[in-house]
Amino acid sequence: MTKTINKLSIQHLFTPPPGLPNVASSLGHHTQDITEALEIRITKNNNFMSFAEYMQFCLYHSQLGYYSGGLHKFGPDGDFTTAPEISPLFGECIAKAIAPLLLNHPEWSICELGPGRGALAESIIKHLARLNALPQSYQLLEVSASLSDLQQTRLKPLNKLVEIKHLQQAPENFKGIILGNEVIDALVVERFYVNDECELFQIGVSIQNEKLVEVAQAAPAYLVEAIQNLDIDIPKNFRSEICCQLKPWLQNITQGCKEAILLFSDYGFSQREYYSPERNDGTLRCHYRQHAHNNALILPAIQDITAWVDFTALGNAALELGMEIPAYSTQAHVLLGSGHLQDIDFEAMNEVQRFQTSKAIQTLTLPANMGERFRFMQLNKNCDELIPAMQLRDLRHQL
Ligand SMILES: C[S@@+](CC[C@H](N)C(=O)[O-])C[C@H]1O[C@@H](n2cnc3c(N)ncnc32)[C@H](O)[C@@H]1O
Repeated sequence: MTKTINKLSIQHLFTPPPGLPNVASSLGHHTQDITEALEIRITKNNNFMSFAEYMQFCLYHSQLGYYSGGLHKFGPDGDFTTAPEISPLFGECIAKAIAPLLLNHPEWSICELGPGRGALAESIIKHLARLNALPQSYQLLEVSASLSDLQQTRLKPLNKLVEIKHLQQAPENFKGIILGNEVIDALVVERFYVNDECELFQIGVSIQNEKLVEVAQAAPAYLVEAIQNLDIDIPKNFRSEICCQLKPWLQNITQGCKEAILLFSDYGFSQREYYSPERNDGTLRCHYRQHAHNNALILPAIQDITAWVDFTALGNAALELGMEIPAYSTQAHVLLGSGHLQDIDFEAMNEVQRFQTSKAIQTLTLPANMGERFRFMQLNKNCDELIPAMQLRDLRHQL
């Protein structure tokens, strides 16, 4: 039976197309609340919501958003699996890579942005303890209250190793290393379209015949300016994304930093690759129960929405904020460059452990898996330290 709240059909929004698992019936009230709130927002604004506002609503609505709610997001039973969730080896490699810097600067802390379920924090703290290179404190900055609760529970036993702080806002008077794995791809993006006459449109959503549909309107001035500020010309007949929040977000994170190294890892590439003519439908991906697809207009606030990271834009934002870019490389090279994978004692493992470890290394490093598609960028503020593992392959010329 089609249930309709005034104009927007719940059934249309929450019945996934064939091939995707159904939404649990226990989420009935939740889907109704989401539909009502979405409809009010869109109709209040002349039946138009920019894609950025829609993504903000879906992911970060204060009560209903994907990241605000307690849905099971991570791991095999959730929607997606990140590198630290695949294996503690990922965090151990990062720990090994940054240990020399922490030994040089005993007064430094680590601040992790968007720590998810705390898997990266756990593996880094445990491995830094083995290396006798623990920082002053390990700080976690999270926007999701439910994930912050999970992080606190998981990391409590590690408080005996290092002071763990759960932050509500960017760190102040900070000296140390800021980490962010798959956080920038969770920032809200605008979607745009350039037609064959080079006219620029802002993509958004609207309600028509009880359905959420994609619509386009003349781009507002801020979006025109953001596209004009790119280092390259956008091809004709081209749809893509741009993260207008990137620079203000980076500024907010770093304004309280006295001396910092920032290390970001994420899906992404340079601007030339991001806006290359063959990628004419953008990089937007939705993740739902381990299925990836690109229809963001279904399952609002029930599925994850991400866009790949434009690392040229990240680098440019950092330069404009007075920072430097000492390194940009692939995940495979950084993990291998840390030297940790080469130290693994396979002889001491049983067959199952050997198999699981080899499989994790393959997933994390093979080019067809995460090895090439995931990039690492180091940014320095008031600091000239290098991370040796980041130097194994320098891809800054691609930016
Ligand atoms: C895709 S998950 C990645 C989680 C974790 N880093 C991992 O690798 O498993 C994105 C994380 O970023 C958080 N997040 C999103 N926007 C954020 C922001 N502006 N500041 C801090 N955390 C944010 C989300 O709540 C979530 O924990």
